Order: sequence, then structure tokens, then C-alpha cells
Amino acid sequence: MTKDLTVIVLAAGGGTRMKSKTMKVLHPLGGRTMIGHVLAAVRDIEPRHVVAVVGHQREQVGPHIQELMPDAVLAVQETQDGTGHAVRIAVEAAGQIDGTVLVAYGDTPLLTGESLKAFAADHEAAQRAVSILSGIVADPFGYGRIVRNHEGDVEAIVEEKDATREQREITEINSGILAFDAEFLLEALPRIGNDNAKGEYYLTDTVQIARDAGLTVGAWAIDDVRQTEGANDRAQLADLGRELNQRIVTRWMREGVTVMDPQTTWIDSDVVLARDVTILPGTQLLGATLVGEDAVIGPDTTLKDCEVGAGARVVRAHGELAVIGEGASVGPFAYLRPGTQLGTKGKIGTFVETKNATIGDGAKVPHLSYVGDAEIGEGTNIGAGTIFANYDGVAKHRTTVGRHARTGSNNTFVAPITIGDGAGTAGGTVVRRDVPPGALAVSSGPQRNLEGWAQKKRAGTAQGDAAAAAAAVTEGERDLSHPGGAGVGQTDAGGGES
Ligand code: UD1
Ligand code: CA
Repeated sequence: MTKDLTVIVLAAGGGTRMKSKTMKVLHPLGGRTMIGHVLAAVRDIEPRHVVAVVGHQREQVGPHIQELMPDAVLAVQETQDGTGHAVRIAVEAAGQIDGTVLVAYGDTPLLTGESLKAFAADHEAAQRAVSILSGIVADPFGYGRIVRNHEGDVEAIVEEKDATREQREITEINSGILAFDAEFLLEALPRIGNDNAKGEYYLTDTVQIARDAGLTVGAWAIDDVRQTEGANDRAQLADLGRELNQRIVTRWMREGVTVMDPQTTWIDSDVVLARDVTILPGTQLLGATLVGEDAVIGPDTTLKDCEVGAGARVVRAHGELAVIGEGASVGPFAYLRPGTQLGTKGKIGTFVETKNATIGDGAKVPHLSYVGDAEIGEGTNIGAGTIFANYDGVAKHRTTVGRHARTGSNNTFVAPITIGDGAGTAGGTVVRRDVPPGALAVSSGPQRNLEGWAQKKRAGTAQGDAAAAAAAVTEGERDLSHPGGAGVGQTDAGGGES
């Protein structure tokens, strides 16, 4: 763009059809809010100034815009008296404006920076007072229609409610995105009236004003009209969400990512994938997730704000704010909570939950474990069914396991403790004290068998009966080994093979 560029984003309307306590433009799709997508497109064209008009629920919308775009100016529209009124307030809030002014809405999430750029460039090249980003739609109901004269020049935009029956047949519509010569806009805004079916100040009246002044007006029709679509209710939101997702998935496939089932694959806007990543059905890659080359994700996996190293394998897992090292293996059925860091070629296996845990290179937690607030050194193997007991009911504590340790199955590590390099623990150990490097920790006492306990204590129950029957068989076998003994009835049963 050669001229000074100001973008005005209108987001003061209520969006009542969402039937939500959340303001319309704050509803999410593709990992951003609707207005978040619009602001990303706006940022792409590098405008000098951005003004956002807020009104309804501005205590929600204002801070969100400021977070995403700290140097945007917020203009407050107390009552929603129309798009012309909203732009007047924006222009007042902007102070000095010059060059080109683009007006967009906060609820068109498919809009791209490229389209805005091409539209603004066309507007400037044609030296128009007003340009309309128009589109041809199958069902123009509700839109402002682009009225052209016999020469095909744009004469006016007529709103649905003000249109004649003939005008309602027109399928070229105003997307709502308009470009103005700033000087013209400043002159036109005070001249917009509200003598129309809605009693609102229509920004679209600027077209007529320009024509009357003998200035150039034109429309730039976009092929991809979905880019201008807004969502008014949740059904439309879901529809736009699916469309957005399909666009994102297609883009990644073109970039060299294999997606086995695009229909069940969901990828947020800010996700970054390397070449030769493979995504299997039922996978959601959300937030700022990054996936390295040759990694295979899925099936049935959700990763939000995760980093997956090259060549890693993640199967039927749920992860959030986790880092998975190169060549590492996760799942099936693993839950990686925030702060999980799995080293190169490490393993978080089946039915394993991790949180705030650093698991070193080549270290493995293969089965049925909870690893919270822990550090596990490289090459260490954690036995099946190990619980890192990090919570004493009041505070959380850390467990450190050294390098190349081998811990037994069904252990409990009662934090805070340290298990040294090369140390081991026996099966069923409850580790309450530090284990020095190289030591084997054994905590369970020698096994004692209390003979006949079930028959005595559980008589009459299934357990007691089973114990009694087994005891009877054992006794019978003992008797048979003595000549002349034994009940006849038990001979057959005792002799059978089981
Ligand atoms: C508007 C256009 C119409 C176009 C359609 C595209 C006008 C008069 N009409 O109609 O030609 O086809 O958009 O969707 O411009 N807003 C404010 N303050 C207001 C009024 C609206 O911020 O006082 C914002 C709304 O939040 C919304 C946008 O402007 O994002 C459009 O407003 P809306 O009332 O939906 O306009 P439409 O009647 O749909
Ligand atoms: Ca609308």
C-alpha cells in the first residue's frame, strides 16, 4: 500500500442470536475468537492505525482487542445507531486520518490479509472515493444489494428492508467491507441521515453521496465469498468453523503433511507442522502446537499448545503444554498435563498420567503410572504401576530419580525424595527415604501366609467356599498318597487334569 492506511473494525453490535453471555465476536473457532481472526488479517496488511468500535459487552471485548493488538484505538459506541454512526465515532477516536480507510466487521473469521490487501490496492489504483468489497451469493436475503446502472457502474447500496421487489432479486451484495478515501469519508459522514426503514445511520449511504458529488465509486467482487461471511448464531459458527478447518487442513496437506482423514482432523490456525508429518483420524492439534518432521500423531489424539519433536509417535493421547522429544513415544492412552517434558527417544506409555515432569532422554514410564512434580534422569526405567505421590494433603513436593535407575513394579515414591543414579527398587516398594546411587530399596517385609484365613474369617462367602473347596482337594490328594486312606467320591475329581 502506498498511502497511509487506517482500518476500522466494527464490533459494537449485540449478536443476540448467539443466545450467549459471551459476546458474539468472542466466540472461538480454529483456536481464536472471531475477532481474533479478523485482527490477524488486519495485522497482515500492516495498517498505520487500527480503530475498533466496541459497544455491547465492551468490558469483555475491549480488553480482548487490547491484548491481541495493544496499539489499536478503542472507540466506544454507546448505542448502536448504525454502521455510519459507528464509523463516525471511530474517525473521531482516531484523531488525524489520511489516505485510505478500510472498514471491516469483527465477525468474519475467514477473511484473509491477502484479500484485504488486494481490495485496498484495487481501491487505490482506481482512485475511488468509495470501493465496496462485493460478492455474488445464491441467497442475498438480508444483505445490502449493489445497484448498478445500465453502464454497469455502481449507483447505490440498498438495504434489504429498503429495497424494492426488483432490487431484492439482485445477487451482488455488499460484504460490509468498504474502502474510502479519507478526505471524502470525513466530508460524507456528517451528511448521512437516518431516514430509512431501520432509522439507522447507514454507512452504505456514502455511495450515493459520492455519486451525487460526481466522485468515483466501484465494487471489487471477491470470488471466495465465504471470506465475508459472518456467524450470527451457533449453527453458522459451527459451519464457519468446519469451513475454516477444511481450509487449514488443505493448506497443510499442500505443504507436505499427510492427513489420512481430513473430516475428523482439526487443526487450529496457529499450529505449525513440518513436512512429512502424518496425522491419523480423530486428531485435534490445537493452540500453538508445533509438530516436527516425520512425527506421526493419532489416531484419536488431542494436543493443545504442545511441541512434538521430529519422528515422535503419539497414539491416542491427550496433551496440554507438553514437550515431546524427538523420536519419543507416547500412548496409547496417555495424559500429558502441563509441564511434561519427555526427552529424546523417551517413552510415556499406556495409562500413564504426567504433570510437571521432566523425563530424560531414553527414559521410560511404560505402564499404568502417575508421574507428578518429578525429574527422571536419562535411560531410567520406571516400573509398571508406579505412583509419584507428590501431594501430602497440604503441599506438593518433588521427586528426583537419577540416571539409568531401574525401579520395580507397583512402587510408591512419597515426595520429597531422591533416588540416585543407577539405583533400584524392588517390586511393591514404598519409597519414603532417599535411595543412594546404586542401592536397591526394599520396603515390604518378608511375606507371611496366614493358613486357613479365608475359611475362618470369610466362611459362608464365595471366597470362603472357594478356599474350603481348595483345601478339601489338597487334603484329598494328601490322603490318596497314603495307602488305605481317602474318600472314594474324591478319587476321580482329584485325578483329573486342570
Ligand atoms: C450491513 C450493511 C449491509 C451488508 C451487511 C453485510 C449497512 C447499513 N448495511 O448490514 O449492506 O450487506 O452489513 O453483513 O452498513 N455495528 C456497529 N454499530 C452499529 C451497527 C453495526 O458496530 O451501530 C457493527 C455490527 O456489530 C456488525 C456490523 O457493524 O459487526 C454490521 O452491522 P449489522 O447491523 O449486522 O448490519 P447489517 O444490517 O447486517
Ligand atoms: Ca449482519
